[in-house]
Amino acid sequence: MQVCSNNQQILHAVSTWKAQGKTIAFVPTMGGLHAGHLSLVHQAKANADKVVVSIFVNPTQFGKNEDFDHYPKTLEQDLTKLEACQVDAVFTPSKEQIYPNGYTSHVKAGSLAQGLCSKSRPGHFDGVVQVVHRLFEIITPNVAIFGQKDYQQLLVIRQMVETLSLPISILSGDIVREQSGLAMSTRNQYLSVDEKETALKLYQVLIQLKQAVLKNQDLSVAIHNSKATLSQDFKIEYLSVFDANTLKSITDNTSKIAILCAVFLGSTRLIDNIIFNQG
Ligand code: PAF
Repeated sequence: MQVCSNNQQILHAVSTWKAQGKTIAFVPTMGGLHAGHLSLVHQAKANADKVVVSIFVNPTQFGKNEDFDHYPKTLEQDLTKLEACQVDAVFTPSKEQIYPNGYTSHVKAGSLAQGLCSKSRPGHFDGVVQVVHRLFEIITPNVAIFGQKDYQQLLVIRQMVETLSLPISILSGDIVREQSGLAMSTRNQYLSVDEKETALKLYQVLIQLKQAVLKNQDLSVAIHNSKATLSQDFKIEYLSVFDANTLKSITDNTSKIAILCAVFLGSTRLIDNIIFNQG
């Protein structure tokens, strides 16, 4: 496994593989790797000849009062996990490699970035799109894999790729959950043992809400009831039931539904979702 800390090294690796006619799958990460990330890596391996994983905690997607300074940094463990998955190259750039000379990007997040996470994290998706576009520019993958847990991010990236006609297929990786049902996240490290136990209620509420939607129960009543249950343990940022393609209200044309939520448990922000076909 090659560990490339600068653009020249990764460019060299990628261009060598491309000259050999190999395809490249890319998994962007911010490190703090867990089984969810590793499942994306396995998916990448199944979809291309070579796999590149990036580890870069991107400052431009964090708000002022967010956890950029404390975001878990576990490079040694991450590299060991990636080596065990037989990843071909890991790109671990510095900020200067990604944003040389105050690099600014003309690429902005599109309409799917509106609402949901953007309400409490204004500018977040512009930062995500900026870094992902820059990483795509450097790595030029054929395929890139994003986890479904960050569902709005996944759609925002798909929209960017479509708008810019980038020749990259975007694949979505299923959410990997702890045995308890809690969606795996690097930020779960912030939870205490007691909080971890409480956190599993989030998924239970989402499942109950899904059942209510499938039984055609009144949507606003169902959401209201779910919020009432959730608010016993969490501070709710949003809990929404939307068309999974448009992130807007469900219509007669809706084929796929997304139940999406963001909550705080203590000072830790958790997001989760369930995506399913209209019954
Ligand atoms: O999902 C993440 O970890 C990040 O938003 C990403 C896609 C690596 C961009 O920094």
